[in-house]
Amino acid sequence: MSNNLDKVQELIDHREKAKLGGGQKRIDSQHNKGKYTARERIEMLLDEGSFEEFDMFVTHRCTNFGIDGESYFGDGVVTGYGTIDGRLVYVYAQDFTVFGGSLSETMAAKICKVMDMAMKNGAPVIGLNDSGGARIQEGVNALAGYAEIFQRNILASGVIPQISAILGPCAGGAVYSPALTDFILMKKNTSYMFLTGPKVVKTVTGEDVTQEQLGGASIHSTKSGVTHFVIDEEEEGMRVIRQLISYMPQNNCEDAPLAICTDRIDRAEDVLNEIIPDNPNKPYDMYEVIKAIVDNGEFLESQKAYAPNIITCFARFNGQSVGIVANQPKYLAGVLDINASRKAARFVRFCDAFNIPLVTLVDVPGFLPGTGQEYGGVIIHGAKLLFAYGEATVPKVTVTLRKSYGGAYCVMSSKHLRGDLNYAWPTAEIAVMGPSGAIEVLSSKEIAAVEDPEKKAALIAEKEDEYRKQFANPYNAAKYGYIDDVIEPRNTRFRVIRALQSLSTKRVVNPAKKHDNIPL
Ligand code: HXC
Repeated sequence: MSNNLDKVQELIDHREKAKLGGGQKRIDSQHNKGKYTARERIEMLLDEGSFEEFDMFVTHRCTNFGIDGESYFGDGVVTGYGTIDGRLVYVYAQDFTVFGGSLSETMAAKICKVMDMAMKNGAPVIGLNDSGGARIQEGVNALAGYAEIFQRNILASGVIPQISAILGPCAGGAVYSPALTDFILMKKNTSYMFLTGPKVVKTVTGEDVTQEQLGGASIHSTKSGVTHFVIDEEEEGMRVIRQLISYMPQNNCEDAPLAICTDRIDRAEDVLNEIIPDNPNKPYDMYEVIKAIVDNGEFLESQKAYAPNIITCFARFNGQSVGIVANQPKYLAGVLDINASRKAARFVRFCDAFNIPLVTLVDVPGFLPGTGQEYGGVIIHGAKLLFAYGEATVPKVTVTLRKSYGGAYCVMSSKHLRGDLNYAWPTAEIAVMGPSGAIEVLSSKEIAAVEDPEKKAALIAEKEDEYRKQFANPYNAAKYGYIDDVIEPRNTRFRVIRALQSLSTKRVVNPAKKHDNIPL
């Protein structure tokens, strides 16, 4: 064999070795835990054959605790670029078979390199996390590596989309890089996110908790709101990421790709003319409305199980990607509370940062009253949503279906927060508060003076009716131009599409500033 061929063979051997990561035994152990390897995950995520790898031959430089005798090509992370539906993305996947995917100085440098490349080329970064945290043997160099990644997450925020999948443990500082990204996805039962593990919790607070109870997907999707998507299988996770990416532009200077629309734009939905119950206190399902108006009834929901009183999802109108924010009357009457405000505010800001128009569907009785909310700072958290809508410069189309009361009227993409086109259904009720609350305040003395219970009830009904006629309708707001038109519910899809088309050239620029000071 010629010298050249020897060298080529050496390269092939090196590549084969690198592909084995921490060795076959550890790969088997990964599979036995129901987990895929880093390379298998990348293969599932990207278009077939599109992956180009960087830094396959990087090894760590640490000599502490004798680990200079143990090193692996790639050093615990597989990095590179590829495509999703033909669009460029950068990706890194931590390799649990190498020191438990723990972060070393060199591994951090590899991750930073793909992040820098993604920023230079204006393409999303997807991180597949499966790591025991900072590599203990590396001490401060591992911590420095994390901080270098955090800094890049921060500078990339709002410039390129950043998505994190948590597919194994994610402990200590390792959770902060995902937390700085736009969307987090967790797999049920095998992924965990916590700052300190169960053993430390037990020592410090005496609490007995399992990893799942402390930071499993079920907790982060319902209680903390840390994660946006929960998946049963890794294959499903990769499909969700691909779908998510399809709604986004490559970067903040571009628009999301236009999909081919196979759904009639003037599809009327008669069922919407009757969906609002006669009794204003009866709920209906906002998902039915969303499904009826978006292209092919398809949408991708973020934070489905967290604050279900508000729905945040991506969908398309005539092929154009939009972010939908909708109150859900089926849960807590669609009230705005701390969690709903935080959830929706972050979603609105993502859409605005990445030029994705906002469609807001309103049916909100107001902000949730009470000490629980006030002590928790509902003022500040509600202000986040107010701020997010007010600063957003993307096209904003609002449809008020039923209730829009008090502060919640102002917050939910009202005309006064630069809503571009604000429509209402004939069933809309726009006022300072609902009839019963208003009558309680306005006529309590008059009502108290009536002793006979039947007469009292009749008087209350009469007063409420009078109030409803005066305020609980869309025409009072339409009279002032705060509602641009009252539309037939069945035509909502068509009217929203036309509104979005008319706004496709919208240009609004906020005053120049270093950055705003959103109430955090
Ligand atoms: C070096 C590590 C490691 C780490 C795991 N390994 N974590 N090596 N540094 N942080 C190695 C193990 O020695 C083992 O090596 C292999 O990875 C697999 O680990 P196991 O424990 O056998 O796996 P498993 O039972 O699945 O448990 C996984 C685990 C556990 C839950 C992640 O390993 C663990 O608790 N690790 C430590 C987590 C942690 O506290 N990290 C530091 C957080 S502090 P072999 O050779 O046997 O395969 C932090 C600070 C950052 O991250 C701050 C930034 C701001």
